[in-house]
Amino acid sequence: MRKKITIVGAGQTGATLAHWLAQRGDTNIVLYDIVEGMPQGKALDLLEAMPIIGSDAHITGTNNWDETANSDIVVITSGLPRKPGMSRDDLLKVNGDIVASCTRNACEKSPNAILILLSNPLDAMCHVALHTSGFPPERVFGQAGILDTARFRAFLAMETGVSVNEVNAYVLGGHGDDMVPLLGSTNIGGVPVEKLIPADRLQAIVERTRKGGGEIVSLLKTGSAFYAPSAALAQMIDAVLNDRKRILPCAVYTGSNAGGYGVSSLYLGLPARIGAAGVEEIVSMDLTAGEQAALHSSAASVQSLVDALRSFDPPLIP
Ligand code: 2OP
Repeated sequence: MRKKITIVGAGQTGATLAHWLAQRGDTNIVLYDIVEGMPQGKALDLLEAMPIIGSDAHITGTNNWDETANSDIVVITSGLPRKPGMSRDDLLKVNGDIVASCTRNACEKSPNAILILLSNPLDAMCHVALHTSGFPPERVFGQAGILDTARFRAFLAMETGVSVNEVNAYVLGGHGDDMVPLLGSTNIGGVPVEKLIPADRLQAIVERTRKGGGEIVSLLKTGSAFYAPSAALAQMIDAVLNDRKRILPCAVYTGSNAGGYGVSSLYLGLPARIGAAGVEEIVSMDLTAGEQAALHSSAASVQSLVDALRSFDPPLIP
């Protein structure tokens, strides 16, 4: 039987995710949005492309939560994007309310779904969704590490003139400007990156990666990145649908220090085994002392946002 995937928010990211997923041909995709006609129009346009690309994907658009019922996967992309000069954290209250409302409606209709978050500030929004859904943490996780890692890999490939496929790297931590590219384990074709790229150039690439989302916001002027974020979501969905057991950097709940990173009860970008059950394991990695300190500093930034969620009236999480 076909798996049903609901994409909440049919804006640039939601619609582009539908586009990536439609190429698979084996899914039932529902695009939900509050704007009347818009998800229906985008879904119909995409559906009419299927004979051209030879895909049998089913795609519908709706303003009615009933049509999202019994989804296997729900992706929440709703929320405001940044404007130039804004940080993701500036969206905490407005997007927190939107994510809480969407989570409540979606999970009521699809109580067994896996919930994947995209809205910013991402790690904090995962806390809102975890609390609002009441789902176990293995079924609530967020996209960001794949995107941040892809940006890092793309910049390293550009710098060295090799295929992106030869660049092996991880970016961990919160999805903010203090994310942590792991230089100690990054290699290009097996050669440590620090042997291939001078330290000053490497530092510039790290900084560009950290500010990668802001670079796109500044260029677009209205809206934020959507091709790479939606491609990352499609990779996560593929890992779940096919029980691939892929190790992907995602925003995952650390519980009581899962993975041994010294961070508890917090969503943070860490390598996780993603399969049919969702987050099946947070994978331990050896970090250098500097990377471990940077990860804790990034976790502290996420924690301050989580504390802010608790201080709202009414609080968005207990
Ligand atoms: C980004 O980094 C939108 O947060 C997303 O581009």
